[in-house]
Amino acid sequence: ESDEERMPRPPVVTVMGHVDHGKTRLLDTIRNAHVQAGEAGGITQHIGAYQVTVDHQDDDGETVQRPITFIDTPGHEAFTAMRARGADVTDIAILVVAADDGVMPQTVEALNHAQAANVPIVVAVNKIDKPEANPQKIRQQLTEFNLVAEEYGGDTMFVDVSARENLHIDDLLEAVLLTADAALDLRANPDKDARGVAIEANLDRGRGPVATVLVQQGTLHVGDAIVCGTGHGRVRAMLDEHGAPMQEAGPSRPVQVLGLTSVPGAGDSFLVAQDERTARQIAEKREAAKRAAALSRSRKRI
Ligand code: GTP
Ligand code: NA
Ligand code: MG
Repeated sequence: ESDEERMPRPPVVTVMGHVDHGKTRLLDTIRNAHVQAGEAGGITQHIGAYQVTVDHQDDDGETVQRPITFIDTPGHEAFTAMRARGADVTDIAILVVAADDGVMPQTVEALNHAQAANVPIVVAVNKIDKPEANPQKIRQQLTEFNLVAEEYGGDTMFVDVSARENLHIDDLLEAVLLTADAALDLRANPDKDARGVAIEANLDRGRGPVATVLVQQGTLHVGDAIVCGTGHGRVRAMLDEHGAPMQEAGPSRPVQVLGLTSVPGAGDSFLVAQDERTARQIAEKREAAKRAAALSRSRKRI
């Protein structure tokens, strides 16, 4: 694949950190939405995926619109697998640390996932509106984990924010785009069959299997025959983060896909096949391989 075919694509940014440190509120503020207030008990239980377009000053001082894909992860200790999945598909991690609470177990777990996946980390020191906030202490605590702030001679960007009071959110987005532009060459070819990964899926009473997928290369279209995990089918409809229908989804786009025959597993890869019959055959092969692997695991146990 030549460089000309590989076009710039938006960064995929996963928001990680300890429970209740303000990940969803931060994304709500960025999106101007209100998800966090509606979460039962205030605990996020699912991965969420959203694309947002932000204003950005380019090198010539012109304001340009830059899309960023955000993945929200839960901070509750039970959801390790979702955090690992988030770190796996992301280009950049925003590590949210509440300035009144400091580095906590899932802060460390999250940064371990990101470092293991070789993903650059931008630290958002959140809740600086609180009187007990101590942003410098967060910087000191994180040096122990090789996250050394630029002002201390390191190369990690720390941005003090308040998701609640909408403080310095622009600086955080700027830090994310700077990191993307300086450290990463984010490109993909949009002009081929789509491939990507399911980031979550469920069975909807009315609509059947619904999978939120992240397109990683190529462009997914309504009508495409796809394999997703061991499920397959034809894309009947695609919906964006507002539930609005989409006809196509290019690289870095998260999208809800309807039309699969079964619910894929979170983390399963998807690809577009030539036709529905081929999609079914690939799905059957995957299913057989999965069964064989399970069988050999159970034999080993005996
Ligand atoms: P989990 O997804 O369950 O891990 O939590 P979370 O990290 O998404 O935190 P969430 O956004 O649910 O916020 C937790 C609580 O902190 C809520 O009551 C928020 O309103 C509050 N909160 C978030 N950001 C700020 C902030 O900047 N300042 C203050 N004072 N409160 C905040
Ligand atoms: Na919460
Ligand atoms: Mg949350």
